[in-house]
Amino acid sequence: MCGIVAYKGPKNCYPILIDGLHRLEYRGYDSAGIACLSDEKITITKRSGKVIQLEHGLKVNGKYENCNGSGIAHTRWATHGKPNQINAHPHKDDSGNIVLVHNGIIENYDPIKKFLKSKKIKFKSETDTEVLVQLIGYFFNKGKLNFEQSVRAALQRVDGAYGIVVLNKKEPDVMIAARKGSPLVLGIKDNEFFIGSDVSPIIKHTQQIIYLEDSQMAVMKSEEYKITSIDKDVSLPKKVEKIDFKIDDYDKGKFKYFMHKEIHEQIHTIRNTITGRAKKDRVYLNGLMEYWTQIKEADKIFITACGTSWHAGLIGKNLIERFAEVPVHVEYASEFRYNKTLVDNKSVVIAISQSGETADTLAAIKKANEYGAITVGVCNVAGSSVARETNCGIFTRCGHEVGVASTKAFTAQVSVLYLLALKLADSNDTINRSSMKAHLDFDDSINKIKSILKKENEIRKVALKYKNAKDFLYLGRGLNFPVALEGALKLKEISYIHAEGYPAAEMKHGPIALVDKDMPNLFIVPKDKTYDKIISNIEEIKSRKGKIIIVTDSRDKILKSLANDLILIPKTNHYMFCQLATIVLQLFAYYIAVGKKLNVDQPRNLAKSVTVE
Ligand code: F6R
Repeated sequence: MCGIVAYKGPKNCYPILIDGLHRLEYRGYDSAGIACLSDEKITITKRSGKVIQLEHGLKVNGKYENCNGSGIAHTRWATHGKPNQINAHPHKDDSGNIVLVHNGIIENYDPIKKFLKSKKIKFKSETDTEVLVQLIGYFFNKGKLNFEQSVRAALQRVDGAYGIVVLNKKEPDVMIAARKGSPLVLGIKDNEFFIGSDVSPIIKHTQQIIYLEDSQMAVMKSEEYKITSIDKDVSLPKKVEKIDFKIDDYDKGKFKYFMHKEIHEQIHTIRNTITGRAKKDRVYLNGLMEYWTQIKEADKIFITACGTSWHAGLIGKNLIERFAEVPVHVEYASEFRYNKTLVDNKSVVIAISQSGETADTLAAIKKANEYGAITVGVCNVAGSSVARETNCGIFTRCGHEVGVASTKAFTAQVSVLYLLALKLADSNDTINRSSMKAHLDFDDSINKIKSILKKENEIRKVALKYKNAKDFLYLGRGLNFPVALEGALKLKEISYIHAEGYPAAEMKHGPIALVDKDMPNLFIVPKDKTYDKIISNIEEIKSRKGKIIIVTDSRDKILKSLANDLILIPKTNHYMFCQLATIVLQLFAYYIAVGKKLNVDQPRNLAKSVTVE
């Protein structure tokens, strides 16, 4: 999704903003732009395509070295209007006084545009954003309101979601940021201010930050700043926090792609997630304790999320039902928010989100809160909207995830849900102490991740054989059905190969019609109670000449004889098998995409954090 970085301070803003834009690239975008306000002059440079092209443009035009003032910059992921230079941000108003960058969507742009056109205001782009900057300009240029009042007046008239930063050459010592529904972070350092749509462009400069809340505005004037409201001119408390993200999270280190780095990090991140929470035969989830009585006595548990996080939710359902014997309903957040719901004040709604900013998941939480449910966030970003909107939660603690295709966040979410299932089971007396102890003995299993990573070259060789496939089926049962869904999603996202995940036996009810000699079928086969059944499913595909790839912990000869390719993973417990199989499928998708020479970290059309509906 779109990214924002802005700077106000004594330094040349260009290098700061360009570096910030590069750090925002992971979010996905199709054009970029920058505006600098210096000596009461606004200079805007925009390009369709990548930040590097914008940077080149600035250097060629000799602008790069000289902007000591304020600057705003943006990476745009097109919603209204094509991804071209005109539609790229920043946008300015007709008078050229005001310049703005915007994340989100202005829903009532059409009537406002008609109104402004009736006042002879001329538009240049097709964007909803230009409507907002023109509206601010309209109020300001009437001469009755100052800059801050004009921004407030305009924001009070727009519907939708926004995170914005605005500059005005008539009040050059002021920079204004405001948010509703689309996150913005303010970084503070002595006499310098930084704004980011997340912390990534800020972290290098300061760890002192304020997460702007919905309907808040930050007004920075000279070296002072205030937090105020969009609704009225009041002074609100400045909630300054120290962030603990590390700058290393934003560097690829020895890896070519963040996704690859993040796959490798899982050996540490899964351990990080459980550290201090799994101790001998007990689970400690301090973030839930205030609400634990209601959680353990809940009549119904709902899990809601999107994409990869939804797949983790399906694993969570399986684990909670298996260990704690409580029924769990899993629903896409985009459906949950509009469907008739059976949520009430005896329900628990678990919302899973890596970014903590996904618009649909936030709407689902809001609905659950309105129905009186206890809302539990499983989220990776402290201070994010999910963390703030839920009653309580468990952080996944896997560090910043930069690759658009989620990897380490998924295995961390699954780890959290595993702990939650065991804790509920403990409270419900559906597990005994010795089983708890056995299930919490992770050390050996986590070490087995190393052996998967050591097999990377073998996985790469198998993956490359299939890089020209057009379609894929991923098949698994029980806990490994969501793993199949997740494996198929990873392949689709980064290699653009069509792939579907199914419960292995379900394949007979339709998808088998697709099978022919060119179609690879990837089976996830743990040696468990469904083992023989899956072998029958494999035979069914084999007899229709489908290609068979097997990921298994079984050394049985029969599998070797059925498989065109077999990837062996070490023996471990049921739960850890699905984590190891996931990592194999992540590497499999990664190497197919690399083999196709695709940009793994920034797949086409995708955004890291989907902050619009
Ligand atoms: C897939 C992926 C997406 C996200 C989804 C939800 O690799 O990353 O499917 O899982 O957009 O995002 P979060 O978890 O941030 O709410």
